[in-house]
Amino acid sequence: MTDNPFIIKGYAGKAYFCDRKEETHKLVTRAVGGSDSAVISPRRLGKSGLVRHVLLTIDEEYPGIETLYTDIYATSSLGDLVENLSSSILAKFPEKTRFGKRFMDFMKSIRPYMTFDPLSGIPQFHLDFATPMQKEATLKSIFDLLDDAGTPLVFAIDEFQQITEYPEKNVEALLRTYTQNLHNIRFIFSGSKRRLMTAMFNNATRPFYASVESMSLDKLDRKVYSEFILSMFRKGDRTMEVDALDFVLDWTRIHTYYTQRVCHNLFDTGEKHLTLDIAKKVCQDILDGENYNYLQLREILPLQQWRFLIGLAKEEKVTQITANSFISKYKIGSAATSRRAAESLEEKELILKTPSLGETVYEVYDVFFSRWLEQTY
Ligand SMILES: Nc1ncnc2c1ncn2[C@@H]1O[C@H](COP(=O)(O)OP(=O)(O)O)[C@@H](O)[C@H]1O
Ligand SMILES: [Mg+2]
Repeated sequence: MTDNPFIIKGYAGKAYFCDRKEETHKLVTRAVGGSDSAVISPRRLGKSGLVRHVLLTIDEEYPGIETLYTDIYATSSLGDLVENLSSSILAKFPEKTRFGKRFMDFMKSIRPYMTFDPLSGIPQFHLDFATPMQKEATLKSIFDLLDDAGTPLVFAIDEFQQITEYPEKNVEALLRTYTQNLHNIRFIFSGSKRRLMTAMFNNATRPFYASVESMSLDKLDRKVYSEFILSMFRKGDRTMEVDALDFVLDWTRIHTYYTQRVCHNLFDTGEKHLTLDIAKKVCQDILDGENYNYLQLREILPLQQWRFLIGLAKEEKVTQITANSFISKYKIGSAATSRRAAESLEEKELILKTPSLGETVYEVYDVFFSRWLEQTY
């Protein structure tokens, strides 16, 4: 536990979590009622936090239901996935519990070698599979064991789109086959890559088609977030001027992580009365701290892509990336260059493309980077 109430990593409990009441209620109701969900939003808006919040709420309100969370962002193959799932299961159900013992016995039967997380002491499995078939069989057994554990389980798999990037091309179909006949497990799949996630769940040719209810996570409500921020400062014996708060929300575009980060740093200044000047200085310090990284990025990006980024940052949001006005103003070259730059920058997750009312909105993904570009050029 920290004495800075603005959490910028992970989830620290309900006291530090703002709102998301409606989303939480919906996801809890669906999971408990027996349907699977998908949660989709850009990175750093609060998916993982929300999912953890939902699981905690289920833990508190439904003692008969178990919950399990895993983040598969770092996995890049079916073997990794099996190791990741096994490790998170054993972290949640230690060997001294009945299910933990059963699960461990099963794992031992496939002879893993284990290492221990140096910080938490939690065992991490490593499996030497002889054949792909073995991996598939193990994956199936893991779900069957969980299903057979005797308690219903809500299983959240974060950064789920990762499975589409594995070299094994059948993982999606396998997972769908293994999970669709489970009786006691409900899933919450979350992911940041909208295109991959929606293709997986909304495309009729894909195994997970129409298997979940999707939720698009939005920004926090400005008014609700304002009250949360003020009350966090108040509890920490600080006051914040209204224009300082408005500046922070505008400057960070109410993109949760960035807002949290500025508030976190504001809290860390130790100042008891937070003014607009202090807020501006804290934001500037953040940009100054990133200066070197951004300049490094300029070194490796083609000039047209760099100019494209400057254009987006200066305009804040752009819908017509091939319009003459945009291209000539920022010296991007041609419509084709602009389109290619957008594609490549999206691939690198440097820009965010959001479909909206028949248009596509383009913006620089990272809010601090966007502010830096805007200021520097
Ligand atoms: N509702 C919230 N209230 C306060 N902080 C939040 C909230 N949601 C997310 N955060 C914080 O914002 C940051 C980004 O959230 P995270 O859940 O990791 O986003 P995502 O999973 O969408 O990338 C984290 O540091 C998290 O603690
Ligand atoms: Mg996340």
